[in-house]
This record gives sequence, structure tokens and C-alpha cells, in this order.
Amino acid sequence: MEKHASGAHLKRISLTRYLVEEQREHGTIPGELRLLLEVVARACKSVSNNVNKGALAGILGSAGTGNVQGETQQKLDIIANEVLLDANEWGGHLAAMASEEMDSFYEIPNRYPHGEYLLLFDPLDGSSNIDVNVSIGTIFSVLKKPLQSGNVCENDFLQPGVKQVAAGYAIYGPQTTMVLTVGNGVHSFTLDREAGSFVLTQQDIRIPEDTKEFAINMSNMRHWDAPVKRYIDECLQGKEGVRGKDFNMRWIASMVADVHRILCRGGIFMYPWDKREPDKPGKLRLLYEANPMSFLVEQAGGAATNGRQRILEVTPTALHQRVSVVLGSKNEVERVTKYHLDAQ
Ligand code: AHG
Ligand code: MN
Ligand code: MN
Repeated sequence: MEKHASGAHLKRISLTRYLVEEQREHGTIPGELRLLLEVVARACKSVSNNVNKGALAGILGSAGTGNVQGETQQKLDIIANEVLLDANEWGGHLAAMASEEMDSFYEIPNRYPHGEYLLLFDPLDGSSNIDVNVSIGTIFSVLKKPLQSGNVCENDFLQPGVKQVAAGYAIYGPQTTMVLTVGNGVHSFTLDREAGSFVLTQQDIRIPEDTKEFAINMSNMRHWDAPVKRYIDECLQGKEGVRGKDFNMRWIASMVADVHRILCRGGIFMYPWDKREPDKPGKLRLLYEANPMSFLVEQAGGAATNGRQRILEVTPTALHQRVSVVLGSKNEVERVTKYHLDAQ
């Protein structure tokens, strides 16, 4: 298949075929990992079907419960979480799972065989967009359970992002698309609903190093730290300012959709620390939001930092730990990071 090509005229390569051939050529996807990724893809297909039905299936609206992070859960947050748990618990490829919607990790029950992988996910990203019919998604990250450990414990999950063996997301937008990396570039697969399978539609996605587009929730501006304010101020000055060019702004409020746009055409995404909750390092969660997205972005030639340090090198200390996020086009991320280091 041609690079950067998409369209029906090309030979169709299913996700399964891609995974099998990737293992044959590069040895990066052993059988258990392939099974895991296929099961995750199947679960995302099921979430996509639910998302598509919306009010017809009675899945919109709040569930009336809260998660460990103090956020109100939507019905679809819980449905997606259950779909992922049910799909993945019996296959024998996993030791345990952890999710945004569960206080603690979920160990595979003893009635099923246990595998060597750990799966982390944000079952439904962009919850505030569910009821308004705007793109949402599922984010996932795969780690290996440390060899020396016996029974699964929270510590097993607390590995820096560089240890991820696979990561990706499914975006439920005008199309349902699965974007995946196993450390050998970033590839995307579009769901063919009639055939019921994901088909390779873009190979080796690359993020342009420069951009004129930023994504940040501007309503938080008064709470930002000086380096973030400096960067955005300079973008807003446009052609007449220090940057010498006009910038455009986008903010979808689904990280999946904002990152997907950046993978498609470049840009910078930021959810920085701010003064609203000074004790929290940021809003987004390290293990199942920032790490998988940073892995994808780096694999596509972009960069991802917390303002000071590469996100993938942050050592986690808790399952639901938060982190400040700056990711996307390399030169812009480096600029924001430099502004933070200059201010130290
Ligand atoms: P989630 O729906 O999984 O809780 O994540 C929402 C996140 C992220 O997707 C998005 O970038 C951000 O929250 C939006 O935050 P604001 O509502 O503050 O803009
Ligand atoms: Mn999320
Ligand atoms: Mn979520």
C-alpha cells in the first residue's frame, strides 16, 4: 500500500492482516499482543455502535454516579468501561486492567487464564461531548506486567510511558477510526461497517514540525502560568508580533479529537497546570490519557512534554495521577518547553 494513501481503490488490508504481517516483518506483535489489540478493536466497534444509536438506545445523559476523580459519570462512560472489561477478561492475554472509571485496577478473575499484559484505558474520552453529538473516543495503553511481580499490584501499572508496548485510540466521529502504534510508526484503520472490520487507511502518519494552529481552553487563561501565557500571547499577536504569522485556534474538548486533528494536519495541544487547583499537576491523567497520546505523537515525529520533561519519562506514583500536557508539532512543543525552562 502506498504511504499516506487512502481510498477504496487500494488493496484492502484489514487490522488483522496488518498485525500478522507486522509480526512477520518486524517481530513487534507476538500472538498474545495481536489478540489483545484485536479484542480492544472489537470492543471499540461495540462502543461505536452504541455511540451511533445515541438516544435510540437510551444511552445519553448522566448515570447519576461519580468516579474516583470526583467527575460525574455519563451512562456511556460506564457502558464503554463494561464493554472493554467484558471483551478483555476471558482471552488469557491479560493479567489486569485499569481504567479512568474504576478506583482500583481489575485483576483477571481466577476462572480465566492470566497473560503477561496490562491494559489501561479511558473508556470514553470527551464525555461532555456525548450528549451534543460531537466526536468522542476511547484511549488505551498496553504495558507488560513486570516479570518479578507475583499477584498484580498497583505498582505494576506505575511504569513510565517509554515502557508501553502499544497504544492507540478509537475516535467516534463522522467515521470511526482506530489509530495505533506498537513502536513502529502510527497507522490508522477506518471501520467499514458493512464488512464489520477495521481497514488500513493511512500508514506512517507524520506530524508536520511547524504549525499555525493551537488547541487550549482559552477560558482558563487567567489561571495559567507565565510561560503558557507568553506562548499564547505571542500566537495571538499574529503577523505583526514576534512570531510573524497568524495562528488559528481549535478546541473540541475531546482530547481524542484534538489529538486526531494534530495527527492529520499538525498543531499544538495544551492542557497545562493552572491556578484553579494548584496542588494538581494538571487535568489530564498520565497513565491512560497523556502516555498513550504521547507515544502516538512521538511515533509520528511530534513531541510531548509536561512543560519541562518528556511525558514518556515521567515516573508515575499513582494510578490516576494527573499531568500537565503540551504535545504536537515538534518545534512548537520545544518552544513552549523552552519558555518553561527559561522561567525556572
Ligand atoms: P474525560 O471525558 O475522559 O474526562 O476527558 C475529558 C478531557 C479531555 O478529553 C479534554 O481535552 C478535556 O477534558 C476538556 O476539558 P475542558 O472541559 O476543561 O475543556
Ligand atoms: Mn479523557
Ligand atoms: Mn473518560
